[in-house]
Amino acid sequence: MNNTPYILAIESSCDDTSAAVLHGNSVLSNEVASQAVHTAYGGVVPELASRAHQQNIVPVIDRALKVANIEPSQLNAIAFTNGPGLMGSLLVGTSFAKSLAMTLNVPLIPVHHMHAHILAHLIEDAHRTPIGFPFLCLTVSGGHTQLVEVHSPKDMRILGETIDDAVGEAFDKAAKIIGLPYPGGPHIDRLAKEGNPKFMEFGRPQVEGYNFSFSGMKTSFLYALQKRVQQDPDFVEQHRADICASYQNALLDVLFKKLEMAIKATGCQHVAIAGGVSANSELRKRLTSLGERDGLNTYIPPFQYTTDNAAMIGIAGYYKYLAGESSDLSISASAKVKF
Ligand code: KG4
Ligand code: ZN
Repeated sequence: MNNTPYILAIESSCDDTSAAVLHGNSVLSNEVASQAVHTAYGGVVPELASRAHQQNIVPVIDRALKVANIEPSQLNAIAFTNGPGLMGSLLVGTSFAKSLAMTLNVPLIPVHHMHAHILAHLIEDAHRTPIGFPFLCLTVSGGHTQLVEVHSPKDMRILGETIDDAVGEAFDKAAKIIGLPYPGGPHIDRLAKEGNPKFMEFGRPQVEGYNFSFSGMKTSFLYALQKRVQQDPDFVEQHRADICASYQNALLDVLFKKLEMAIKATGCQHVAIAGGVSANSELRKRLTSLGERDGLNTYIPPFQYTTDNAAMIGIAGYYKYLAGESSDLSISASAKVKF
């Protein structure tokens, strides 16, 4: 397969600087530098994120090439995230991708960050069953929550999405309220394993169709805790695991209600999850159980492709490369780019 391209991919949409090298649909390297600088602020500070990308991008690309054992001259294309994301962050990856593509005289391939989360399922993996089409994908991250019907790498349609906060934000903001570090999702996941999911009740928002709403859940979490803390100042301290398990359970109920509705309506036999929150162990278990109960094929991404990473940008770039799609150097980053 001499024509199989080597693609360098760059991801810098939020607070992870990542570079990967793919040979066709197989990943040769996938380096990620996460930015610890935001932990102290309890959330991503855009200006600091942009600066950290500038510091990280050269060493990260360098490492990705070294691990893949590839020289820049062997690259056939440069893929990069051009949106959506934080403008200052996107610009760092975009500028780098453009200058590399120009220097090496290879195609420049812009990738939609949310397409990439989904297409991570197409990365070659000898240990996983290849995904079947059409599939439904519940894409859950810190910035987005979407239910997508995927017919092919080039043909996907959003059935529903959040009308306010993303589910990852709902995890992170609740975690902050109970004093857990940023990002709080993994901490809630870990603590919830020891807790009782029926310990507390939180209101479930009612939203039409396949859309979601999570901003009310975060408020309901805050008010419910304030009430309990008034009666017992040590309430959070003593029941942290139970609080986490109950809140996580409520968030997952909201997600699964819409997912199950969409499965019924579309008749899709293949169901996947993607995005940072798809690392959640209870979400993974629930999807597997749903598949077993209803005879569906379910697809859970390997951990390294759940949170932001450049390998997923590389696979999305590979399918665009096959279709002959690339951009000229006038392309810019776009904080809100059409799906
Ligand atoms: O996809 P991602 O890395 O970035 C965006 O594109 O937004 O997702 C980050 C989100 C954060 O909100 C983080 O708390 C959440 O994914 N997350 C988790 C877990 N691991 C990461 N949420 C729940 N459980 C986890 N294990
Ligand atoms: Zn993401």
